[in-house]
Amino acid sequence: MEQLSKSVYTLASRGLAASRRATHDCVNYDPKSFMNDARAVLAKFRARFDSPAAVYRAPGRVNLIGEHTDYNDGFVLPAAIGFSCWVAIAPREDRKLVVYSQNFDETREANLDGLSPRARKVWVDYPSGVAWALEQAGYRLRGANLYIFGNVPLGAGLSSSAAIEVATGYALLTAANHPIDRRRLALLCQRAENEFVGARTGIMDQFVSCHGRAGQALLLDCRSLDFRVLPLPAEMKLVICNTMVRHELGASEYNTRRSECEEAVRRLGEILPGIRALRDVTLSQLQQHRARLSDVLFRRCRHIITENDRVCKTADALENGNTASLGPLLAESHRSLRDDYEVSCRELDVMVEIASRQPGVYGARMTGGGFGGCTINLVRAAEALEFQRRVSAEYTAATGRQPDIYICEASQGAEAAVFPAEDVPSVSI
Ligand code: GLA
Repeated sequence: MEQLSKSVYTLASRGLAASRRATHDCVNYDPKSFMNDARAVLAKFRARFDSPAAVYRAPGRVNLIGEHTDYNDGFVLPAAIGFSCWVAIAPREDRKLVVYSQNFDETREANLDGLSPRARKVWVDYPSGVAWALEQAGYRLRGANLYIFGNVPLGAGLSSSAAIEVATGYALLTAANHPIDRRRLALLCQRAENEFVGARTGIMDQFVSCHGRAGQALLLDCRSLDFRVLPLPAEMKLVICNTMVRHELGASEYNTRRSECEEAVRRLGEILPGIRALRDVTLSQLQQHRARLSDVLFRRCRHIITENDRVCKTADALENGNTASLGPLLAESHRSLRDDYEVSCRELDVMVEIASRQPGVYGARMTGGGFGGCTINLVRAAEALEFQRRVSAEYTAATGRQPDIYICEASQGAEAAVFPAEDVPSVSI
């Protein structure tokens, strides 16, 4: 979740416009183009800080199904995408972090000894928060110069925040010679977001940014953090439709949903003492104890419980090549998010409705936290370009807004850019 103020967001959007157009319909995992991005970031770091640097990348994500289930100890099925955040880093001799953001064209400084969890609602909260969480967990860091560039669309529900957190965490740990434990890194980036930035998000975004695999989705159990990789059919594209709507109430409504789930667990726990989270409640238990809940709480619980079931069924369908059942599962997920969890909006509903009747579509639904942002569409590769053209025209006709539509494949998670020695002879990483 992004908590940046509106003015900051507008500024960032302007900065990102060029890169977004450039990558509009080609954000596949392509190691060659990633290396070009890495070289560009490295060159800009050198121009600014006049020293060699190491470069790291972490991706945004799209969630196929399993929405708002992560903070209920449930199941999710996300994939990392090609849109990424890049961090070039070189250690300093003092304990200062000097951080330049290309997107905001701004430098901010922080002192590793003076970090405290107080969100300033500026972009530097993310790198500072991660440094704070790592040091809190006992990782002694080194001061560093950092150059950050991201092309994950901001405020679109594609986890630009997890991308910057994970890329920064990876960079800071490696610069201080700590080995990377991806599970721990994901948890500490989540801690940064929860306690420093102030958004009570679950573990999904940071986890998949750390563990994503090219061509595969992750079935993640958000309680145990056990996961299974699921190969996506080669002929299936992940087409992401950005409604270009960003609802300002997203962050506060997100926290409200989370509190509602906690309240429901508290009330149901009086009669079902073994439960720790909505993950532990069955649909028949919910129906049996309906009288203990308000109508709103009942519907919130129904979404979570049925959504967990849909995630498992979707994973089975993907594993068994049963693509025909994807459509109904995604449609039911969208309906449940719209009517029971109440996190959709008109533009998301319109986008899903238009997408669902296009040729070559396996399934469509809103993705991410909601209140605007994107839909995920599983589309046959051969039809993807035509899908992009038709949905764009129909959505514009229906809403007056021009959407961005990205044709993606699942990408690799966080990684270091390793430059061949002959490639950049004077740069050590
Ligand atoms: C945001 C949060 C995630 C998750 C989704 C909804 O992306 O960061 O933790 O809760 O919303 O599924």
